[in-house]
Amino acid sequence: MMIFGDKIMTPRLRLRRITESDLPLLVAWSNSDAAHGRYLTPDRTDEVKGRENLVMGMYWNDVNRVFLIELKGEKPIGTLRYWLRSERRNCAVMAIKISIPQMRDKGYGTEAQKYVIMQLFQRLKVQSVEMYTDINNRPQQRCLQKLGFELVETLGYDDHQVKRVGHLFRLDAAAFVKNPVYQYHYEQ
Ligand SMILES: CC(C)(COP(=O)(O)OP(=O)(O)OC[C@H]1O[C@@H](n2cnc3c(N)ncnc32)[C@H](O)[C@@H]1OP(=O)(O)O)[C@@H](O)C(=O)NCCC(=O)NCCS
Repeated sequence: MMIFGDKIMTPRLRLRRITESDLPLLVAWSNSDAAHGRYLTPDRTDEVKGRENLVMGMYWNDVNRVFLIELKGEKPIGTLRYWLRSERRNCAVMAIKISIPQMRDKGYGTEAQKYVIMQLFQRLKVQSVEMYTDINNRPQQRCLQKLGFELVETLGYDDHQVKRVGHLFRLDAAAFVKNPVYQYHYEQ
């Protein structure tokens, strides 16, 4: 399988592999309600667990990757994770957090997702990309609409012991190649 590199550059962002020096920030975000927004529950990890995950390769392996999202040449603003489904390896699931509230609603979430989606289809050759989102998470649903996703089903799920109702959205390879958003790049 062709795997993409440690970094993904987008017009305004750099997505890169996590290193040990990022752990204090990731732990702080992990325990912060504000960093998760209204529709995600903090996963509450600590530095010991974070270091263990890093050493074990849990943040970066062939089927699961966590990227730190940074403004180019500046500070980190969030994380994006994808994993390949164990029962369907040609299907990737993504999850994103713009952890600094002031950095939301500037198009960064859409931009980060767009360029990872392009890599997933073009380099990893997945057949579909899926995302779960809380039924009330309008900003994320707007992102998914802009990125050509379609609603598959609505289901109950467990988010760190909090019961939520969410939508499952999917973009398949046929829709990806036809969608102009992946061919023309309007980001500044
Ligand atoms: C959801 C999230 C990733 C979106 O990223 P972002 O950078 O804020 O999103 P963008 O700026 O690219 O796009 C947001 C869109 O939602 C729209 N929007 C914002 N608030 C809205 C609301 N209450 N109702 C409807 N649309 C809304 C914006 O206008 C924008 O659409 P536009 O480009 O057509 O104007 C980010 O807000 C976030 O990380 N939130 C907290 C964690 C989270 O919810 N993660 C997603 C879990 S699935």
